[in-house]
Amino acid sequence: MKILVLGSGAREHAIILALRGEEQSHDIYAAPGNAGIAQDAQLVDLDQLDGAAVASFANEKAIDLVVIGPEAPLVAGVADALRERGIPVFGPGRAAAQLEGSKAFAKRVMDAAGVPTGRAVRATTREEVEAAFDELGTPHVVKADGLAAGKGVLVTSDRAAALAHAEQYLPSGPVLVEEFLSGDEVSLFFLSDGDTVRALSPAQDFKRAYDGDEGPNTGGMGAYSPLPWLTERFGGERAFVEEVTRTVALPVIRQLDAEGTPFIGLLYAGLILTDAGVRVIEFNARFGDPETQVVLPRLRTPLSELLLAAASGNLEDHAEPVFSDDVAITVVLASEGYPEAPETGRLIEGLSDAAAVKGVTLVHAATGAPDAPGGSLTATGGRVLNVVAVASDFGAARERAYEALGKIHLEGAHFRSDIAAKVV
Ligand code: AMP
Ligand code: GLY
Repeated sequence: MKILVLGSGAREHAIILALRGEEQSHDIYAAPGNAGIAQDAQLVDLDQLDGAAVASFANEKAIDLVVIGPEAPLVAGVADALRERGIPVFGPGRAAAQLEGSKAFAKRVMDAAGVPTGRAVRATTREEVEAAFDELGTPHVVKADGLAAGKGVLVTSDRAAALAHAEQYLPSGPVLVEEFLSGDEVSLFFLSDGDTVRALSPAQDFKRAYDGDEGPNTGGMGAYSPLPWLTERFGGERAFVEEVTRTVALPVIRQLDAEGTPFIGLLYAGLILTDAGVRVIEFNARFGDPETQVVLPRLRTPLSELLLAAASGNLEDHAEPVFSDDVAITVVLASEGYPEAPETGRLIEGLSDAAAVKGVTLVHAATGAPDAPGGSLTATGGRVLNVVAVASDFGAARERAYEALGKIHLEGAHFRSDIAAKVV
């Protein structure tokens, strides 16, 4: 197949590596990509937010499938531009992408579909925010309504800090104040063709910047898959996945279909397992980052077939995806100052030694090729790269990942040392 992947992060690199790992070989194009992706795909100079330009390129190259990685092109309507021209695309249109783009929209769809989620109040003034704090109690959960790359959320018992967070976003739109939910979190991905869904294996990510879940929220500092503790609680991963399919994914997909805005792409359910049962904290309209980096290396079913089936409305003809019994973890290497003010432009060294560690793959998030000769790369953003390790158990996977990290040098960089530690 000829496949075009839009995006420039580790998620897109992981998708491309999974496509590359299939028996069938593909011609893979990426826009805009990064220095790591350039080693595995042909980079194309295209504005990923310009639907007409992406469609022209796809037509010119006779692309069989476009995979949209990040939320920004989805919310900008790039999938609509492709679908209007009959180009198979994995990714929802602008309207259905509001499931991620607007937390208020997501809450409305969940209410209409009867999906279990926490209580939430939409507030447009300081007074409404304070009233919601009184109604919903502590800890306070305050969320910006629009896209905020995982950083628009504050969970705190400090009322003044919660209020200050809300006031930071209020000038540009409403905020959501939510009931605090307590429990383990699970990220579960569903491929959807607008009508049928197929679940992938669950993962857990680490959103806080530092060990022990300290520090600010980030885009994600690490992840692991599968989740062995689901077996104790639900009698197995399969039973858990079936429950969430029945109570969350299918009701939401059918609701969106009934509203005339079918969701074709990846439905990311961010779940919290409370004592009262499974609750949705958020939906995303795309693969999660960094969870994708640990889910896809375990996928045995060819990814291209699943994505094309979803894009073409044929998921019903496909069996449930199959996963290996191996485990995978990923540890994110972040630039000094991430998430507040990352230092960029620094050289990254030791990558080939790190990649030589058994079971380890380096998945690039924000790397660039500097002008200086020598083949070194530079860090171009906050989350720089993912060290992914696959092994037969979590102890071995952690050893491999941290051995590889020890070989990488990036001045001032930081990473969490406790990824998947609790499941060893
Ligand atoms: P979100 O961007 O909505 O996924 O939120 C980021 C993180 O904030 C989540 O992964 C949770 O750890 C936390 N969070 C969000 N909403 C709630 C909630 N209602 N109760 C407790 N924690 C939450
Ligand atoms: N890992 C969280 C996200 O992709 O939104």
